[in-house]
Amino acid sequence: MDKAQYIWMDGTLIPWDEAKIHILTHTLHYGNGVFEGTRAYMTDNGLAIFKLREHTKRLLNSAKITRINPNFGLEALEAAHIELLRANDFKSNVYIRPLIYLGYGIMGLNHVKAPVNTAIAAWQWGSYLGDEGLEKGIRVKISSFTRNPVTSTMGKAKAAANYLNSQLAKYEAIEAGYEEALLLDAEGFIAEGSGECFFIVRDGVLISPPNDTSLESITQGMVLELAREAGIPIERRRITRDEVYIADEAFFTGTAAEVTPIRDVDNYVIGNGSRGAMTEQLQKAYFDVVYGRNPKYKHFLTYI
Ligand SMILES: Cc1ncc(COP(=O)(O)O)c(C=O)c1O
Repeated sequence: MDKAQYIWMDGTLIPWDEAKIHILTHTLHYGNGVFEGTRAYMTDNGLAIFKLREHTKRLLNSAKITRINPNFGLEALEAAHIELLRANDFKSNVYIRPLIYLGYGIMGLNHVKAPVNTAIAAWQWGSYLGDEGLEKGIRVKISSFTRNPVTSTMGKAKAAANYLNSQLAKYEAIEAGYEEALLLDAEGFIAEGSGECFFIVRDGVLISPPNDTSLESITQGMVLELAREAGIPIERRRITRDEVYIADEAFFTGTAAEVTPIRDVDNYVIGNGSRGAMTEQLQKAYFDVVYGRNPKYKHFLTYI
């Protein structure tokens, strides 16, 4: 991991190696903590955070869902992101990880008296699924793990506890020789990747499942907006695994994964086995937005 100089912890910039917590930190034991994954891109006009407002709002909504009372509000958190990125003087693209967590002081499941802490870390990070993956597509395995069902987990929260499901699905996929997992919902329809939303293209129509059993993805929303603007027909509906196998194109979206083409699912070649034309079009449009090359969406960028 590419260390940075500072991590922001509850209002103070702490040197990276000193950003430590107590072993009895509540979140570490019971998993009730909420986080974000946000990116800042090195544009022609310097480093800019993409959709800082949307990510910060989702962070606070996640806290609300899991009954954590945040110790910083929207504007203070946004200012903290900017302060951190300025202090670290980054030279390339950055991944930002804000985390609201329950700290040290009480143990046991009743968390209401646990202190609430917030930290924001940021480090230089390239493409999540590899530069080659972005160009040529990745290999994906449908997971044996069902995506956390809505009857037991609140998937609108980007909560640490929800990610055990993703982590085991990812492990299984990599162990089996694939690069990413695709999880089904409890009824057997496509839910999402371990950290991405999912799209297919069939006969010129762009299809993505509703967000019933996927995170309300900021990248998915952006890609859908760009597709709408390009006049591409869109369907939000359930997808079965056999429909994936016969799709013309498939891709993942996520802040980390950006727009990553999928060339193979369960050893079924998708389309022509490489990045599809519509995937490439939307990927390029997405990168134009995040790198500040599309004036229409400049308001989504917070320059540092
Ligand atoms: C489970 C899951 N689904 C989807 C996404 C994509 O969401 P976003 O585009 O907002 O990063 C993520 C990443 O945050 C995720 O962890």
